[in-house]
Amino acid sequence: MTDNLHRRIRAVLVHCEILSDAWDSEDLAELRLLAVSADLHIADVLSCRREGPDPRFYIGSGKIDELKALVASGEAELVVFNNHLSPAQERNISSAVGCKIIDRTALILEIFAQRARTYEGKLQVELAQLKYSATRLVRGWTHLERQKGGFGLRGGPGEKQLELDRRELNGRIFAINNELERVKNQRESGRKSRRKNEIPVLSLAGYTNAGKSTLFNRLTGAGVYAADQLFATLDPTLRRFDLPSGGSVVFADTVGFIRHLPHDLVAAFRATLQETRDANLILHVTDCCDDRMEDNIAQVNAVLDEIGAGEVPQLMVYNKIDLAEGLEPHAERDGTGRPTGVFVSAATGEGIDLLLEIVTELVRKNIVELRLLLPPELAGRIRSDLYELRSVVSEECTDDGMCVVNIKLPRTSFNQLDKKYGFSLSGFVVREQ
Ligand code: GTP
Repeated sequence: MTDNLHRRIRAVLVHCEILSDAWDSEDLAELRLLAVSADLHIADVLSCRREGPDPRFYIGSGKIDELKALVASGEAELVVFNNHLSPAQERNISSAVGCKIIDRTALILEIFAQRARTYEGKLQVELAQLKYSATRLVRGWTHLERQKGGFGLRGGPGEKQLELDRRELNGRIFAINNELERVKNQRESGRKSRRKNEIPVLSLAGYTNAGKSTLFNRLTGAGVYAADQLFATLDPTLRRFDLPSGGSVVFADTVGFIRHLPHDLVAAFRATLQETRDANLILHVTDCCDDRMEDNIAQVNAVLDEIGAGEVPQLMVYNKIDLAEGLEPHAERDGTGRPTGVFVSAATGEGIDLLLEIVTELVRKNIVELRLLLPPELAGRIRSDLYELRSVVSEECTDDGMCVVNIKLPRTSFNQLDKKYGFSLSGFVVREQ
């Protein structure tokens, strides 16, 4: 790679507030974060307000001249609009200003493309990009400037895509869909075997940058990439974890949510987010120092509803208490005494023990503790099943060859074993603890 390829792309950001829309100035702050996350250098920012979008240039011809000047003085190669542009507007602005134009959706897709780590994640991003390109190609196909659209901030595969005709594009979309289906089946069998073992799955969900990956690392000691960038995590990452007081859970780290996330994107990541839908408990992580905490929580809940995870029990994790003055680790409970939230700092570790205690409490409600007395002729088979479920706490043999095993396991797993061996009927169970 040449040095030139390492140089960050200089971009002008455009934020046009449309008075009839529910956008506010905070969205500009988020656009800046998105741009930095995409590794862009922000050369300049143009803000404006309008009653409604200009059909030709979105921001109107006067502002286009201003934008052209900013692009020239900032030596920018790219303009990023915070607003959704039609393909025609994108082309008009591009020819007026003389550089590549992308909108917020394209920028988010670019970040997704840079961040996707698993094969499935990469396929999902490519599919979303192709679908996005397809709408532009259909409408802009005859236009001479079409080569300037498309994906890749600096060309790359995106530019190549635009040289494909629509049929090829549809063929590729079809192939990716098939491949995704195959990968999904594989993933499904992994999920089934987890379910067979009934290991509770705790899914970390939350607004982007809330601290999910940091918390995931803190909880599991796994080296998941955490960075002050939006969408640092795109693929769910699963880690098995033994709770301090016994029993295992699987923690799943998932993609961060964001407001104004294009609907297609949510659909594209449905499969990835399925982990969350199937979770036993969602740890809903939120940055408790963010002024927009309530809104962020609402946005995340809206996406959870959309992916069918609205009914999964939640525990709020109010993160980053180290940034708030006088906030100590503590738990909140509802009228019935059920824990509803825990205040922690994933960065310093404050409150993490408390969080694990609460998680254990919530998971334990589904845990069975028993002492089994097994006759020698059956002990071998049953013990092997119990060990596979990691449910043996201790065991000893009596003088007459009986095996006494203390076990601890999820109630559903016990019910399955009970069905297989008839513990309850045969008097194997000595004591329910
Ligand atoms: P996405 O992948 O974008 O969804 O982000 P995420 O929710 O996984 O957030 P991540 O763990 O990457 O953290 C985002 C930023 O917040 C990083 O700079 C972290 O170092 C910082 N951070 C996370 N937890 C804490 C915390 O408890 N206190 C402080 N001060 N910073 C934190």
